[in-house]
Amino acid sequence: SEKIKKDYIKTKEEINSVVIIGSGVMGKGIIWLFSKYLKEVRIKLRSLENASTIISDVAKLYDFFIKTRKMTKAQVDLKLSSLSYTQNYEGLQNIDLALEAIVEEEEEKIKTYKQLEKVMKKEAIIASNTSSISIEKLASSLNNKENFMGIHFFNPVNKMPLVEIIPTKYTKEENINKVKQTLIKAGKMPIVVGDCAGFLVNRILLPYLNEAGFILGEGSNITTIDRVLKDFGMPMGPFSLADTVGIDIGFHVATILNKSYGERMAIAPILEKMYEKKYLGVKNKKGFYDYSSKKIVENK
Ligand code: 3HC
Repeated sequence: SEKIKKDYIKTKEEINSVVIIGSGVMGKGIIWLFSKYLKEVRIKLRSLENASTIISDVAKLYDFFIKTRKMTKAQVDLKLSSLSYTQNYEGLQNIDLALEAIVEEEEEKIKTYKQLEKVMKKEAIIASNTSSISIEKLASSLNNKENFMGIHFFNPVNKMPLVEIIPTKYTKEENINKVKQTLIKAGKMPIVVGDCAGFLVNRILLPYLNEAGFILGEGSNITTIDRVLKDFGMPMGPFSLADTVGIDIGFHVATILNKSYGERMAIAPILEKMYEKKYLGVKNKKGFYDYSSKKIVENK
């Protein structure tokens, strides 16, 4: 029937190649994921000198597969050697998907999309991993709004199954399906959510982290709260999680949520204090815990 034919055409059009812009923690996780499952992965770098650090960090994410004998070292090396790099948006004319994971600055992101639209084919999908900027606002800067959406991964990308897909009123259904299929093939669990501050997961996660901060302010301690929540069944206590996500990122998302939802998303004063004092968590070895030595201890 016509429907089967239509579905067949839909599934035939695949995402085979991707370019990732931004190689921070999230970017590297996304590079790893797509390098494992897609044929062609290109990386847009600010400087080619960063390539070797990126390769070695992406290689670390493959260690698990070597250790568990799911892949051989040769297979991993082949994946890593197939990564290609560009500093100036070159060689992107045949790429199917661009995934932007740069700093959470609207202007910088828009600048990136404008560059991408100049060099990519008209039907290429452009997506943002933003966790705090309105997808529709970002989409409004593009010529081909129907090819734009949010694709929001969680940290650590290699272990977190869920990925939020955030279409706008312009996004073509076919593009949502293509992204969904690709993520499923890459072993992820995509979910289509609405374009609102915090999307779905962060709207739930941030009040949880903030509330832990409020309880701390009322006189409890970090280790106890973390232990209790682990005993309750959470994979990590709230303070370990905040340190892992990064206090700067957590505080930034908390601020956006507070602006959008008001008092019910109040920010715990301790989060703001830590951010101001540059206690950013695991990334700079000091957060709610001190990570500078082998034994992780609570920061007083
Ligand atoms: N590469 C790929 N897969 C791996 C891996 C690796 N290096 N290591 C482990 N895995 C797989 C395992 O096989 C396992 O899969 P399976 O269940 O299918 O077998 C899965 O990943 C979990 O692995 P582990 O059992 O080793 O994981 P742990 O039990 O130690 O849990 C954790 C680790 C999943 C990180 C857990 O602690 C957790 O869920 N923490 C909370 C993380 C979280 O909430 N993140 C969200 C942060 S918010 C965010 O990112 C959004 C931003 O916008 C703010």
